[in-house]
Amino acid sequence: MINIPKGTKDVLPREAYKWHYIEDAARKTAELYNMKEIRTPVFEHTELFLRGVGDTTDIVNKEMYTFKDKGDRSITLKPEGTAGAARSFIENGMGGGVLPVKMYYITPAFRYERPQAGRLREFHQFGVEVYGSAAPDADAEVIFAAASFLKKLGIKDVKLNINSIGCKTCRARYNAALKAYLQPHLGEMCPTCRERFDKNPLRILDCKEEGCKKITHDAPRILDYLCDDCSEHFKKVQQLLTAGGLEFNIDPNIVRGLDYYTRTVFEFVSESIGAQGTVCGGGRYDGLIEELGGNHTPAVGFAAGIERLILLMENTGVAFPEDCGPEVFVAGMDDDSRLAAFKVVCKLREEGISAECDHMGKSIKAQFKYADKIGAKYVIALGCNELESGECNIKCMADGATSPVKICDICACFKNKMSEK
Ligand code: HAM
Repeated sequence: MINIPKGTKDVLPREAYKWHYIEDAARKTAELYNMKEIRTPVFEHTELFLRGVGDTTDIVNKEMYTFKDKGDRSITLKPEGTAGAARSFIENGMGGGVLPVKMYYITPAFRYERPQAGRLREFHQFGVEVYGSAAPDADAEVIFAAASFLKKLGIKDVKLNINSIGCKTCRARYNAALKAYLQPHLGEMCPTCRERFDKNPLRILDCKEEGCKKITHDAPRILDYLCDDCSEHFKKVQQLLTAGGLEFNIDPNIVRGLDYYTRTVFEFVSESIGAQGTVCGGGRYDGLIEELGGNHTPAVGFAAGIERLILLMENTGVAFPEDCGPEVFVAGMDDDSRLAAFKVVCKLREEGISAECDHMGKSIKAQFKYADKIGAKYVIALGCNELESGECNIKCMADGATSPVKICDICACFKNKMSEK
């Protein structure tokens, strides 16, 4: 037998309704915020992620699915949605149209990480990107969009943490201070952080190794190094969140795992799903579009991991709406009545009513059992008596009540039932 690749998961028919529920909430949230969907390819030129995500990140250094295609081009399966959206924004001249451009996506993403609960090699993101506004209002709007998406799903067990990692100017000052603080401890740090020291010292703050965490505990805080503009921007974001009634904590250790961020960064975190507790993360990235060859365009966005959301909802008892069976199952006893059942089912489906009949040659008793198992709300049994009289009974599976109906009126009867709902 050939098994599924490590770190990937099938979404089975019996659990697909959970995905539909989350995707539906994502689309509805995006609609509320007037965001339009963008779909970009699952693979892009590797260069996009080297420049977009950043060549000092774990994603680019260790986790990308990169291969040569038959034309000898270096191709990478997207490790996240932002870089592709940004590429498309530039390539399609969206900056020349009405701004801001507000978009969302639901996409698979691929990272060669060590699989564990909530961490997969293929996972799925609902993401949002807003291009063209440098105002703190855009940061707040994106954070509110994430919060209202989580609320729509009934998720309560999350905390919003925010931080500002400043612009190039304040980051340079901060990096110098951070390096001066870390220098004497360099020998005690993990090999990855020793590498980060030169390339991207900010990432050391995100290290999960106990030894490094101890060292960074008393490190200088980026918030003390923000320039006046960045500081003002961060204050306004906080004002807007407070004005909208959104609770948040300031966590100076949020630096995020991607290089493109500037100013606001944020994460929605839960303690109920183990080590991989961040269900949604994002922030402002004012330099990315220029970095990828476009005109200077401020931007801000987030992405939430669908698998982590499902895990969180399951672990904290947040109910999914029940998976629905068909509205009606039409059973037949012999060849003639089976044919009649098939015809009724075809008509019902044509009218937009979900209907099912037997394809397995089951006895009438077994058909009733099956109808019950698949969650049919009503069952109609047709036999020679019913065909002769032209009348049958509709049985409600919830309470066993039956009501007579002419076979030729079955469709109209169910259409009525549906319109009453
Ligand atoms: P990220 O924090 O790398 O940000 O990923 C966003 C979310 O994707 C995480 O919070 C998590 O829920 C989910 N996720 C990430 N890696 C995995 C994994 N290996 N397995 C399962 N779920 C995972 C980004 O990707 C940015 N592009 C977000 C963004 C959009 N920033 C601005 N715009």
